[in-house]
Amino acid sequence: MLNHAGLLQIDSLNLYYYARHKKVHIVSNMSLSIRPYEVFGLVGESGCGKTMTALSILRLLPRVIKPEGKILFCPPDSPPLDLLNVPPRTLNQIRGKHIGMIFQEPMTSLNPVFTIGTQIAEPLIFHEGITKKEALRRAVQLLERVKIPEPEKTIKYYPHQLSGGMRQRVMIAIAISCTPSLLIADEPTTALDVTIQAEILDLLMEIKEESGMAVILITHDLSIISETADRVAIMYAGSIVEMAPVERIFSEPSHPYTMGLLESLPLERGRKLTPIPGTVPSPEELPRGCKFSNRCRFRVVECDIVEPPLKEVAPEHFVRCIRKI
Ligand SMILES: Nc1ncnc2c1ncn2[C@@H]1O[C@H](COP(=O)(O)OP(=O)(O)OP(=O)(O)O)[C@@H](O)[C@H]1O
Ligand SMILES: [Mg+2]
Repeated sequence: MLNHAGLLQIDSLNLYYYARHKKVHIVSNMSLSIRPYEVFGLVGESGCGKTMTALSILRLLPRVIKPEGKILFCPPDSPPLDLLNVPPRTLNQIRGKHIGMIFQEPMTSLNPVFTIGTQIAEPLIFHEGITKKEALRRAVQLLERVKIPEPEKTIKYYPHQLSGGMRQRVMIAIAISCTPSLLIADEPTTALDVTIQAEILDLLMEIKEESGMAVILITHDLSIISETADRVAIMYAGSIVEMAPVERIFSEPSHPYTMGLLESLPLERGRKLTPIPGTVPSPEELPRGCKFSNRCRFRVVECDIVEPPLKEVAPEHFVRCIRKI
């Protein structure tokens, strides 16, 4: 059951598809909980299952991918709901109203044939039952909130008339339009120039502070996490391998994969960058024991036998590594 401090609790989530009549897991036995008002970072290399985890929360997974487990969400003033089991009507009430999402593909997430104003107004009309005129007035305010110049003019534009950074601001405006208690931001800055990246992150954090929503921030970039997140989960090949308050991840990284990610970050001037050797195994060819073993500098025979459990090694600090058992 969701404890009183939880906003979202993912409990033993498995995401899989069938290939040659066998289950292929892209996310395995994932459990984590998000607290109100926190920024929770979800980090890992490309293909490790970050986006699929996020999509499963709103049941937007590709049809072939099946979820198992529980995703409990606590809407304001209401008992927890298992999002994997609620009827579609309830889910429509949650999507966009209580949980906002910024999708990974900013260039394709806006509909090219509708104006910006119409696209911001749509969830407001649906969730709040206001008129189109009132919704467009709110759209102008939202564009002001995300610092788009000349908002009255911009609501009449089509997506192709805006730059990538401006489109991402519009995506943020849509995601926060109904003041959700949880925002899922999937790589919100990856497609943007470095200077614009910083502006968008600052804007997101400013809105978060003001509105009090919780944020799941998905990124492959640990340096973004160091500046924004309260807690972080490091994913590797569909599993959480380490989870901790953000300071602990940087001061006491304990899984060899986390250490590798930190060593490949340009944190200090003049320090040699060491990339992690090898590549992530495909979901159809996962090793039997620890999934990271073929890239791990500490590998011993036991690593290839069973996958270690995620163990709490210090308060709130969990690690999945044989050296910590
Ligand atoms: N429609 C699909 N059918 C089968 N497998 C899929 C499908 N979509 C994604 N996958 C697989 O699911 C796994 C997880 O993908 P996901 O998109 O969640 O990764 P990610 O961590 O978000 O990566 P990135 O950093 O590149 O966005 C990958 O191995 C991917 O190949
Ligand atoms: Mg992704």
